[in-house]
Amino acid sequence: MTAVSQTAPTRDPLAEELPTGAAKTQMVRSMFDTIAPRYDLVNRLMTFGLDRWWRRRTVAALRLARSSVVIDVACGTGDLLGVLGRQEYRPIGLDLSAGMLAANRSGCPLVQADALALPLATGSADGAVCGFALRNFSDLEGTLCELGRVVRPGGRISLLEVATPTNPLFRLGHRLWFQRAVPLLGGLLSDRNAYRYLPKSTAYLPSPDALRQLLVRAGFSTVGQRPLSGGVSQLITATRTGLPVVATRTVAPSGRGKER
Ligand SMILES: C[S@@+](CC[C@H](N)C(=O)[O-])C[C@H]1O[C@@H](n2cnc3c(N)ncnc32)[C@H](O)[C@@H]1O
Repeated sequence: MTAVSQTAPTRDPLAEELPTGAAKTQMVRSMFDTIAPRYDLVNRLMTFGLDRWWRRRTVAALRLARSSVVIDVACGTGDLLGVLGRQEYRPIGLDLSAGMLAANRSGCPLVQADALALPLATGSADGAVCGFALRNFSDLEGTLCELGRVVRPGGRISLLEVATPTNPLFRLGHRLWFQRAVPLLGGLLSDRNAYRYLPKSTAYLPSPDALRQLLVRAGFSTVGQRPLSGGVSQLITATRTGLPVVATRTVAPSGRGKER
């Protein structure tokens, strides 16, 4: 595992337009390398510890058999991996940031990789989870298609993401907290620019309908979207379409069986 990279504080991502494409990937990687050491602390404080409950909900929504292989895409410091392990799944974590992986104490197998090109065989995972990373991907559609490639037919995905409450009063309180208090808190404990970027990054999220369509195009069905904790977070679930692949045996001319 690569050691935590000693990067300088991130440049202010809000000094200009929100980046896209390769510039976004580069900025996101450097930002998470920088904030990795205090990521868990700030996360816990800014969600009042609710993130633990959301993560348990995310894993519970998979409803897969024990020992299923579940990948955690953009696993970060590994909180979802810990929940997966306790539920007796076989988790594998993948993340772009060496800093986040170095801070990962889950004890699970970890791979440094871009979610857009997962180093995994087609249909090799029974399920996938992803926590708070959809808005960080520079190509969300491509990343969901990559999930559709790696998750076997019949497999399940469960994606946790931030959201905006619909109740006007709750939305006002949430905006004050997320857009004013969180950048201050992040600035005190970690990197102010990174935690100014956090609320702005929700602009990358597609509408619920658009996200549903992306998932369907990526090969998923029975897409479910439900708000958590009054809508400050959301849980998106879906099932990979197609029948589970069953190994069949054909008889070769020599009479020897051949696996397909
Ligand atoms: C907000 S953190 C979430 C970490 C963790 N999933 C959690 O629930 O706490 C977002 C994570 O996404 C990772 N990430 C961003 N873009 C990525 C990409 N293209 N491929 C893989 N990981 C990526 C970051 O390095 C970071 O660890």
